[in-house]
Amino acid sequence: MTTHRVAILADIHGNMPALRAVLEDLERQPPDEILIGGDLVGRGPQGSAVVAEIRSHGWPCVRGNHEDYLLAFHQNRVPENWWLEPEWSAARWMAAELSAADFVFLDSLEMTMTAVSAPGLLLTHGTPRSHSEGLGPWTTDDKLKRLLAALDHKVLACAHTHRQMSRRVAAQRVVNVGSVGLPFNGDRRAQYAVFDWDGSEWTTRLRQVEYDIDEILRIYDTSGFSAAGGVTADLLRLEITHASPFLVPFLKWSEALGVSPTTDRIEPFLDLYDPGEPVQEFFIRLEASVLDHLRRSGR
Ligand SMILES: [Fe+2]
Ligand SMILES: [Fe+2]
Repeated sequence: MTTHRVAILADIHGNMPALRAVLEDLERQPPDEILIGGDLVGRGPQGSAVVAEIRSHGWPCVRGNHEDYLLAFHQNRVPENWWLEPEWSAARWMAAELSAADFVFLDSLEMTMTAVSAPGLLLTHGTPRSHSEGLGPWTTDDKLKRLLAALDHKVLACAHTHRQMSRRVAAQRVVNVGSVGLPFNGDRRAQYAVFDWDGSEWTTRLRQVEYDIDEILRIYDTSGFSAAGGVTADLLRLEITHASPFLVPFLKWSEALGVSPTTDRIEPFLDLYDPGEPVQEFFIRLEASVLDHLRRSGR
């Protein structure tokens, strides 16, 4: 019987201490194949080091939306204000941290790939149709069924939402491998997934590995990312320490209030925002409170 082990790592987001911890964990149960699920870069200070590590092993890799964000800066395809506004300073810093060779590699990445030596496992960053469409615990069975019906594969492995998930849908399975460098599921450990093929079936294990969070937060400072990244770096620090989203909820909050997203507004934002609450519920609550405010002010 042919057996085969595939490990999939995704959403590393420029966090080398987290990546190293996962690689050490893998040494204890060596896979036959390692695949990378995209978002190597962005939302973290060590994009170039992560790209170098992945390339040194020659591990195949799919493209994430954060590869495209930073490529847009590198190729000067961003709106003029993104070069000027403080809220984009972290992205500018992260794009400048990557070398021309890093960008050539990132621009070569495909949207999907299959495991090389075992059949029926398809990897994509978001979904097969978009690297920016996320599958998470909130995704309905109906939607998963529709997505999987279009595929011949037994397993669809994905990432992007930074939340681990393994769900059976009829004879197929969707596995979100979670995030190595920036989990959003309340668990601060670095997360990835291992798939074992026994010759007829895949079995999945979602892994969580302790790593030195203080080390990556020190690197935020020593690399210059904290100083250059302003409010975005401040919010990413909160994301790492709470394993929950802060950046997008903060930006939506400031947009809804019509105020600029500056560091001094993080405190009032935190009065309203509970990182343990599902983000969609926060957005609904936010909309209701803005409507209420508009009604009271007679607009
Ligand atoms: Fe990501
Ligand atoms: Fe992503």
